[in-house]
Amino acid sequence: MRKKLAAGNWKMNGLVDSLSQVETLVAQHPAPGCDVLLCPPATLISAMSAIAGSALSIGGQDCHQAQTGAHTGDISAQMIRDAGGNYVILGHSERRADHDESDAQVAAKTKAAWDADLIAIICVGETEAQRDAGTTLQIIRDQLASSVPDGATGTNTVIAYEPVWAIGTGRTPSLPQIAQVHDDLRTTLTARFGTQGDAMRLLYGGSVKPSNADEIFATSNVDGALVGGASLKATDFGAIITALSKAH
Ligand code: 13P
Repeated sequence: MRKKLAAGNWKMNGLVDSLSQVETLVAQHPAPGCDVLLCPPATLISAMSAIAGSALSIGGQDCHQAQTGAHTGDISAQMIRDAGGNYVILGHSERRADHDESDAQVAAKTKAAWDADLIAIICVGETEAQRDAGTTLQIIRDQLASSVPDGATGTNTVIAYEPVWAIGTGRTPSLPQIAQVHDDLRTTLTARFGTQGDAMRLLYGGSVKPSNADEIFATSNVDGALVGGASLKATDFGAIITALSKAH
């Protein structure tokens, strides 16, 4: 049985004041019926970890592939771990677009994350042009093949399907479209990793909110969500956690 995961990606949002949202979330969901994760900007990982207790896990939004060294402005997987993180998001489409991150870099970062005992959340997803061209499944299979290193297991890796055109737009794929991609992810991962591919959690991300969470969580092979905007407010993210806790 895969343990469901509600993950929030704060992106470049959040100041010390915003920690009150996390305090509220922990107070309202002290023992959620699913795994809960928040990935704040690096500046807040330590402070958020101190609030999180056992109610939620904390993660980073990226890490460098090296452990230490002359890489001004970067942070390592070990630093995320040291600050209290257990997870790191890798290969988010915003990193791929803004920083030209390649699949090979994502794979190298994933190995660095594993070495530091972090769970990697590897993101894949098509652009709108790719969907319109009918290449969605092929694009995602290619990303998966090159971004996920050998050695991935249900314990050290989570895959997030985030259609680029659904991020922050209020638009989502239809439920059959989500099911098609998630079923294909499962088939592809199981073919390569066997039972570990079956154990890997598959998150959907892109405009998840309280009003569409129930139906998305009822969709085939969806084991949770990677939530952007709606994870910033305790009430919205709390409602998504409740929806996932109830989902079968
Ligand atoms: P939104 O939920 O704001 O669409 O963002 C999704 C996302 O990119 C999470 O990583």
